[in-house]
Amino acid sequence: MKADQTPLPKILVLASGSGTNLQALIDASRERDFPGQIVAVGCNQPGAFALERAAQANIETFVVNHKNFESREEFDASLMAEILRYNPDVIVLAGFMRILTTDFVRAFRGKMLNIHPSLLPKYTGLNTHRRALEAGDTVHGVSIHFVTEELDGGPVIAQAEVSIAPDDTPESLAEKVQAREHILYPIVVRWFCEGRIQLGSDYVLFDGEPLNAPMRLPDN
Ligand code: GRF
Repeated sequence: MKADQTPLPKILVLASGSGTNLQALIDASRERDFPGQIVAVGCNQPGAFALERAAQANIETFVVNHKNFESREEFDASLMAEILRYNPDVIVLAGFMRILTTDFVRAFRGKMLNIHPSLLPKYTGLNTHRRALEAGDTVHGVSIHFVTEELDGGPVIAQAEVSIAPDDTPESLAEKVQAREHILYPIVVRWFCEGRIQLGSDYVLFDGEPLNAPMRLPDN
């Protein structure tokens, strides 16, 4: 960043697990023209590999262990306090496996993105790959959406599809979907940092215009 430029938007990533999406974002953020900087990675699992990935990239980390709190409200209050220390422009949930309270979600309205491994509105919640297989679907995928009070229910910004093969298992499908996730999330975070996507009342604005349908990553 040159001294005469305004600072880049600050990205804070929350993760709980292996952090492959975090890694994709770290890699993208190293591109010279990436319009944002990852300022911190927060985690609710002390041993999560996501923390290791962040440390290797010299990104600050913090842990708020949900097991140390008696209620969701107390956990979220502590998480919020940590987040506010960094004053982020966007909070990117990348495999963050906690349900957030309404107050928390409202506090970051329009500034929080989530990645969900299904073609929303199909299969909110857990076990999406198994559920898609059990339903006999031939197409599955990933969605990135603004976080609102409704679990996995906020307006969808972008999706990418994968074909389901007859011999797919939940594991093989997860692998295919994750490959698409790692392409799609950096693209959407880039759009956000460039100011191209915003949350309207209950829809997404893309370049100032309401999005009629989610943006689609071209097929492989
Ligand atoms: C991803 O599949 C994402 O869709 C879901 O949780 C998983 C996180 O994986 N929300 P990782 O920690 O980024 O590897």
